[in-house]
Amino acid sequence: MVLLDKLKWRYATKAMNGTKIPQEKLDNILEAISLAPTSSGLQPFEVFVITNQEVKEKIKPIAWNQSVITDCSHLLVFAAWDTYTADRINKMFDLTNTIRGFKNEGWENYRQMLLSSYPQKDAEENFNHAAKQAYIAFSQAITAAAFEGVDSTPLEGFDPAAVDEILGLEEKGLKSCVMLPLGYRDADNDWLASLKKVRKSKEDLITEIV
Ligand SMILES: Cc1cc2nc3c(=O)[nH]c(=O)nc-3n(C[C@H](O)[C@H](O)[C@H](O)COP(=O)(O)O)c2cc1C
Repeated sequence: MVLLDKLKWRYATKAMNGTKIPQEKLDNILEAISLAPTSSGLQPFEVFVITNQEVKEKIKPIAWNQSVITDCSHLLVFAAWDTYTADRINKMFDLTNTIRGFKNEGWENYRQMLLSSYPQKDAEENFNHAAKQAYIAFSQAITAAAFEGVDSTPLEGFDPAAVDEILGLEEKGLKSCVMLPLGYRDADNDWLASLKKVRKSKEDLITEIV
C-alpha cells in the first residue's frame, strides 16, 4: 500500500479490541515522533507512553469516558513545556554542538536571539507555541501508526489539568495538550469503522496561485 492508501485506511478509531501492538511498531511510531520537525529544533515537549491499566482507568473518566483510553494498547500523552526557559533553550543548542562536534557563529548568534526573546515572553504564549510543536509530532505519529497498520485516535476530549495532576506533570514543567491511544480497531463495535470518510472538496481546501 502506498502512503495515501494507508491514510485512507486510518480513521479516528472509536472502539479498540485491547490487542497489544508489537514493540517494533511502537518503536517506529515513537521514532517518527522524534523525527518530527519543530521550531528551532527545540522539541519543546515530552511524550508519555502509558500501558499501566490503573493509570488508564484513572484517565478515562476525565476524558469523556472514551473507551479507547482503556481498550488501547498504548496511550500516548503529548505534554508541552509550560514555558521556554534559558536552560531549556541552552540544553538543545548545546546538544546540537555536541552531536555535530563544532560551534558555529551563526548558530550561536541564533541561540542568543532566542534567549533574548522566548524566556521574556508570557508563559501562556510560550506554552501555546510549544504545544503547536507537539501537535506536529502528534500528526506525524498518526501517520506513522497508519503506515504500521496500527489504529489510533487523535484525542483532545479530556481535562488537561486533571491529566497533569494524574501524571505529575506540573513538577516536570509540562502541560498535557493532546493524547493518542494506539491499538487495533474493534470494527464490529465501532460505529465509525464502516462509514465513508468526509472531507471538503479540493476546491474548498486548495487555492492555487500561479
Ligand atoms: C486535535 C484532535 C482532537 C480530536 N479529539 C477527538 C476526541 O477527543 N475524540 C474522538 O473520538 N475524536 C477526536 N478527534 C478525531 C476527529 O473527530 C477526526 O479526526 C475527524 O472527524 C476526521 O475523521 P477521521 O480522522 O476519521 O478521518 C480529534 C482529532 C484531532 C485532530
